[in-house]
Amino acid sequence: MPAATLDSCHTPALASWKALGERYIADMSVTTNALGPSQKALDAVIASLRVDTEHYPDAQASDAREALAKFLCIGNKKLILMGNGASELIDLTIRITTGRFRLGPYPAQYSEYERVAHSGNREVIPFDSPLAAGVTVVIRPNSPTGDFMTLPEVRALLDSKEGIFIFDESFLPFMGPNWAEHSAVNLLGQYGSRVMVIHSWTKIWSCPGLRLGSVTTTEENIARMEHIQVPWSCSALAQRFAIASVDDGEYMVKTWAMVRRWKVLILHELECLNEDLHSLGLSVTFQRNENSPLWVPWIFVTTDSEATALLAVEAGEECGVPIRWCRSHGLAASLRLGIRDPDAHETLFRAIKAKFVARMQQAAAHPPAH
Ligand SMILES: Cc1ncc(COP(=O)(O)O)c(C=O)c1O
Repeated sequence: MPAATLDSCHTPALASWKALGERYIADMSVTTNALGPSQKALDAVIASLRVDTEHYPDAQASDAREALAKFLCIGNKKLILMGNGASELIDLTIRITTGRFRLGPYPAQYSEYERVAHSGNREVIPFDSPLAAGVTVVIRPNSPTGDFMTLPEVRALLDSKEGIFIFDESFLPFMGPNWAEHSAVNLLGQYGSRVMVIHSWTKIWSCPGLRLGSVTTTEENIARMEHIQVPWSCSALAQRFAIASVDDGEYMVKTWAMVRRWKVLILHELECLNEDLHSLGLSVTFQRNENSPLWVPWIFVTTDSEATALLAVEAGEECGVPIRWCRSHGLAASLRLGIRDPDAHETLFRAIKAKFVARMQQAAAHPPAH
């Protein structure tokens, strides 16, 4: 039953794409780079597998941190701590803070931070609570809604509220060549240890199976996290992958162009879906978040009802294109569609339309008894 498998826990046990077997076309339930990993980075990992498997990795991840410092346009690699995906750094950053945990200013946000806060018995408060918080988390751009808080807005937030701020910028590198200018990393000089910036490199470099994440903050915060981090959590392969990905500028240029080009086409297809459904006399809607910038690698869609959203999820499963139902975020009428080849989106939208047509025909054949 799709509802249970897609939605029952914060981390699916088995990726839903695998469960689809031969039906599988594309996984829109995730928001990783649709190009897949850089070929150069994959080659580096394969070479590293032969050489590095029998040795412990560099516990300081020196070369990889240096590469990331270059990518983030910061001069000091000591401001970076790497880990086994951003998830490890989410755990560490929350654990070195104290006091209440404040959610970001959106109706829903990536829930792993809140889960860690709950596991530490921390009080969780909404963004607009008048209570003082020890730590606030803002995802920029926010997953799943796709809203983006600009750097001047981030600065205003730091000036108006107390405590430590964690900015999750896992999707910011999709913005384009100047993305690093928009990073909250640039505020470390002014706000010091109140700012911690997390990057999940598994998104832009499409390597969730390899696990690669980092946090950028002051040396003082880094030392506190190193003190409680398990050793060698960033594997030799992941370190090599990071270095090679930073080196592959061509891959980044392709990525930026691909997301924008495909998203324009997909948004057009989505409009056509709405028109088609309306022309059938149906009052269902698939409304995208118009405030979300074009470079964000997914489309956040609010439908007219939970039933419509569920029907779209079922259509996706049946046609080999799983999508993310946002019910676990408390948004049961909403969907998140990762950007993939527009042909796959066309397949999905066709399957959704066919589902509604079939439902109409069924209703016409079996009118309710009076
Ligand atoms: C906003 C955000 N941050 C962090 C993560 C965790 O990433 P990782 O795979 O690097 O642990 C995710 C994963 O979906 C995410 O969406």
